[in-house]
Amino acid sequence: MKALTWQGKRNVSVETVPDPGLVMPNDAIIEVTSSAICGSDLHLYEVLGPFMDQGDILGHEPMGRVVEAGSQSTLSVGDRVVVPFNISCGSCWMCSRGLYSQCERTQITEYGSGAALFGFSKLYGSVPGGQAEYLRVPHADFGPIKVGEERPDHRYLFLSDILPTAWQGVKYADVGEGDTLAVYGLGPVGQFAARIGVHLGARVFALDPVEERREMAKRHGVEVFDISDESHEAIRDATEGRGPDAVVDAVGMEGHQSPLGKLAHQAVGLLPDAAGQKLMEVGGLDRLSALHSAIDLVRRGGTISLSGVYGGQADPMPMLTLFDKQIQLRMGQCNVKRWIDELMPIVEDASDPLGIDDLVTHRLPLSEAPRGYEMFQKKTDGCIKVVLEPQAG
Ligand SMILES: NC(=O)c1ccc[n+]([C@@H]2O[C@H](COP(=O)([O-])OP(=O)(O)OC[C@H]3O[C@@H](n4cnc5c(N)ncnc54)[C@H](O)[C@@H]3O)[C@@H](O)[C@H]2O)c1
Ligand SMILES: [Zn+2]
Ligand SMILES: [Zn+2]
Repeated sequence: MKALTWQGKRNVSVETVPDPGLVMPNDAIIEVTSSAICGSDLHLYEVLGPFMDQGDILGHEPMGRVVEAGSQSTLSVGDRVVVPFNISCGSCWMCSRGLYSQCERTQITEYGSGAALFGFSKLYGSVPGGQAEYLRVPHADFGPIKVGEERPDHRYLFLSDILPTAWQGVKYADVGEGDTLAVYGLGPVGQFAARIGVHLGARVFALDPVEERREMAKRHGVEVFDISDESHEAIRDATEGRGPDAVVDAVGMEGHQSPLGKLAHQAVGLLPDAAGQKLMEVGGLDRLSALHSAIDLVRRGGTISLSGVYGGQADPMPMLTLFDKQIQLRMGQCNVKRWIDELMPIVEDASDPLGIDDLVTHRLPLSEAPRGYEMFQKKTDGCIKVVLEPQAG
């Protein structure tokens, strides 16, 4: 089959690789019909290279049809399914508490990491990902989400990751009717987090340097701002000088604006693997612009919820401010399956309450995936969300 493979920093290519087959009796194989590119893929593309092997298949936002089902999977050939990016068993101590991204049966103990993830580097088990024609799905007795036939792929596809991620981000931020929420970053995750805030009755401010991303959020009832001190002032003015009740950081480790951090990042991407890994594990290498801004902006006693991924181990944090402002911090990979029962009625609602129909800017055949990565990273051609269609073309 054809699959999108990691080859080096900012270098991915479509290669012919062996078709996946059933390994465990609870596996299934799906023919992938849609597979999105995520901001997390950009971290692998750019700074997490030391944890990748040449030829690794990327992708963790897939859906498709079951073409083979192991005897202990709960799926049947022909089922239409969305595959959550975390691989979880559904019944261990962590899973039984809804902490599916910490599944004790799939944790990558060698790296001290949580549950295995599709297409996500050695840190998460080097599991072949879903930007491919076919995908082997382990734990197909629990993970895959069966969906109906009535809606197009893109309505369901984002249940694999960014919709539950944004939902968890806002739930952890603990905002509802009448509260105020600021969202940093209007990539796909921030778009949904901001719209979910509006949907739950909050007044939502969002900040992003990219004009068309702000324009998109504005179409969904979000008050948008460029990143600047003036924006912070304006949001403070709108919240009686206190700052918003909560902030969702949907930017993560590659935030704009921090020359020093940028240098360290570039160094890691260019070092030989072992040295790069070591530096990444012990070094404080995140670009913390968005997180530090969030700490500045949130009101005293407020909550900061990190959806954006961070990966440094020695990041400088303003502990005085965090403590003095009495800030609560919540974070983590999304526990995808925990939120599906709440989200399914919303994605199937004919009135499309979260405006899911307004997110995808590019649909490309798999053969054009390298161009999709480049556009998404450089934010050219108005690119906000790319969906690959491996069965097209
Ligand atoms: N927690 C999870 O389970 C989970 C799941 C999916 C994605 N993520 C993470 O969420 C983050 C966002 O993903 P995405 O797909 O939306 O990616 P993205 O790269 O498209 O979005 C990031 C956005 O942040 C903006 N930005 C950069 N610096 C900023 C700053 N200082 N202030 C405000 N905005 C800034 C960029 O312009 C961009 O629009 C990534 O870190 C990704 O790894 C986490
Ligand atoms: Zn993702
Ligand atoms: Zn488990």
